[in-house]
Amino acid sequence: MVDHDGGDARRTTFPAPSLIAGAFVGRAWNDAEDDEVVARMKSVVYSRTGDPSVLRLVDRDVTEPAPGEVRVRVVVSGVNPTDWKSRVGSGAGAAPPFPEVTPNQDGAGVIDAVGEGVENLAVGDRVWVYLAGHQRPTGTAQEYTNLPAARVVRLPAATSFDIGASLGVPAMTAHRALTVSEDGPKRLYPGALSGKVVLVAGGAGAVGHAAIQLARWAGATVITTISGPAKAALATAAGADHVINYREDNAAGAITKLAPDGVDLIVEVAIAANAQLDIDVLKPRGSIAIYANDGGEEFSLDVRQNMIKNLRYQFVLLYSVGDAAIVAAVEDITLALGDEALPVGEYAGLPLHRFPLAETADAHQAVQDGAVGKVLIDV
Ligand SMILES: NC(=O)c1ccc[n+]([C@@H]2O[C@H](COP(=O)([O-])OP(=O)(O)OC[C@H]3O[C@@H](n4cnc5c(N)ncnc54)[C@H](OP(=O)(O)O)[C@@H]3O)[C@@H](O)[C@H]2O)c1
Repeated sequence: MVDHDGGDARRTTFPAPSLIAGAFVGRAWNDAEDDEVVARMKSVVYSRTGDPSVLRLVDRDVTEPAPGEVRVRVVVSGVNPTDWKSRVGSGAGAAPPFPEVTPNQDGAGVIDAVGEGVENLAVGDRVWVYLAGHQRPTGTAQEYTNLPAARVVRLPAATSFDIGASLGVPAMTAHRALTVSEDGPKRLYPGALSGKVVLVAGGAGAVGHAAIQLARWAGATVITTISGPAKAALATAAGADHVINYREDNAAGAITKLAPDGVDLIVEVAIAANAQLDIDVLKPRGSIAIYANDGGEEFSLDVRQNMIKNLRYQFVLLYSVGDAAIVAAVEDITLALGDEALPVGEYAGLPLHRFPLAETADAHQAVQDGAVGKVLIDV
């Protein structure tokens, strides 16, 4: 489980006056030599891959943001499957990509320092962050994290930190999945999906939840699949128009009854399990956006069935979608937040499970065990 250590070879000192001018009230401080003081923070780190026990709660120095970066005082850290998958890596005991990694890509908080050259963000801004730990060691399971300004987005005044910490991986992935069809739309806004039928596989999942919300906000009719009544209630609370239990007989027939002309787009979490259902319910020139391998690593395609319908398969991985897709997602999600279209919590179909920072290992385990809803860490 989590333990403590106080060492840090990368200790940084600052002259005291600049700290007093900063936003460090209420945080831990250590006096250093020559009137210099060093801001210290709690941080969760791992230095080898493995089960949640590799996560350690340690004290680390708060560092200044580099040019082009901002420092965020993290209030809520969001946990996604990718966070435990990265922690597990290619096998227990391997070296992670950096000597020490702080997990968790998503989070929300307040900017408390701005690096040179950053013009569009300011100290005091309430923000959400995405891809915090992508190709860098600075995830959100710590009190302060330094990030490129491009990965930090202002939250509308009415948007909570809980929503902010739930956006990054799920909402951006859902946005990409909803914008890859041949006939569009390429962007989401109210009306963008009017007249379209979207099938969201697994509507009680975190990405499925975001896909339902974004698709409904954009005007689609949303059908979703779930595995039982509790998840049906959540998917309905998220806004799905129709909920189908994929474990019951003839789910494809039930979907086709709801959408006799076929569905336009499928947001797919388990293609290996659902490949035939997807072909059966899609309309000609429909698309399947595949963002996960939850149904298995491989699936086969019947050439004739796919050819007859002119179907399109688009794989989605947030890490490699490219800058244009990221910018589009940020802008459209910001618009949706302004319309209060992305609420979280059980009433909105996404129950929240909270953990303190010291219990980050338990938070990771909960996601790994398939927690229904969103796992958040109060930093
Ligand atoms: N490609 C990307 O960039 C990207 C981004 C985000 C997430 N992911 C991946 O996507 C997966 C889901 O992430 P998440 O955060 O949404 O996880 P989650 O909250 O655990 O949701 C997964 C959902 O999938 C459902 N599901 C499983 N098999 C299904 C099937 N055959 N048909 C319909 N639904 C099915 C599960 O419910 P039941 O088992 O009860 O049906 C569950 O509700 C993870 O593997 C994650 O790593 C990938």
